[in-house]
Amino acid sequence: MTSTELEEYISALPKAELHLHIEGSLEPEMLFEMAARNRVRLKYASVEALKRAYAFGNLQHFLDIYYAGADALRREQDFYELTMAYLRKAHADRVLHTEIFFDPQTHTARGIPFDSVVRGILDALADGEKEMGISSRLILCFLRHLGEESAFEALQMALPYRDHIVAVGLDSSERGFPPSLFRRVFDKAREEGFLTVAHAGEEGPAAYVREALDLLLVRRIDHGYAAIDDADLLERLAAEQIPLTMCPLSNQRLQVYPDLTLHPLKEMLDRGIPVTVNSDDPAYFGGYVNDNFLAISRALNLSRSDLRLLAVHSFTGSFLDQERKADLIATIPA
Ligand code: ADE
Ligand code: ZN
Repeated sequence: MTSTELEEYISALPKAELHLHIEGSLEPEMLFEMAARNRVRLKYASVEALKRAYAFGNLQHFLDIYYAGADALRREQDFYELTMAYLRKAHADRVLHTEIFFDPQTHTARGIPFDSVVRGILDALADGEKEMGISSRLILCFLRHLGEESAFEALQMALPYRDHIVAVGLDSSERGFPPSLFRRVFDKAREEGFLTVAHAGEEGPAAYVREALDLLLVRRIDHGYAAIDDADLLERLAAEQIPLTMCPLSNQRLQVYPDLTLHPLKEMLDRGIPVTVNSDDPAYFGGYVNDNFLAISRALNLSRSDLRLLAVHSFTGSFLDQERKADLIATIPA
């Protein structure tokens, strides 16, 4: 495929996005606009100065800037506008279904009501479906660095929204915060009817991927690259068809794979693991889902059939019912 053919193929490819932090879609321009109207003082004098700070050495360096950026989000309307802006970008990238993470503890710790956050996001998801036909699910992520007790409090706040939040997940600083620390809160979440996912094996070891599977009983692993070091685990991921939600531009920007030609996506795909391509925090990592498809396709020389398979996995790995999955898969050209 020529470069133009590749771009056209990716643009036209129907897909689902399964790993997107809504706070990570806050573009610098919108961040400044919201900070101004909410009278939030920023550390950076201009959009350009802020963008210059987006040169990350590792996950923690990024997270510090990402949580500071989220401080601009104050009112229900902010969460609505943030989510609508993401949905428009996703729609332009031919995303037909999206599963969105949100980090409520980042907001409730600043005194923002849980209800404002969730209502803003849910109203936008409903309007996005009406306007653009994008279906969606919402996933609440617990922040590892805040520990178990705070996660239990977040879960408690989510109970009235059980019908609107499909799953709980686990994100933030990975090393030193193994999934085992969150076993009890995940048990409780499953008892309450939530599905489970977890970030694991992004900067942490393969053992964290195993813990997420064995102790948190997750349906998907977010990232999961460290599994490449563990042959038995690779076999298990293929045998159990555990989806991995990979995020190439994030990996490049956070120095997980500064050289994308060394990324394990293709090897895992060839081993029969249902890997997917996603954008993670597109406003911080330089691109939405199609930019991620393009970057990894170029780095690993992916074929049309690889790309098609990635799109199929994005639908099969989603939390949609079987019927809608089949309908969406049927939209992928042969
Ligand atoms: N929160 C937002 N993006 C994240 C990532 N890539 N890893 C862990 N936590 C996150
Ligand atoms: Zn993530």
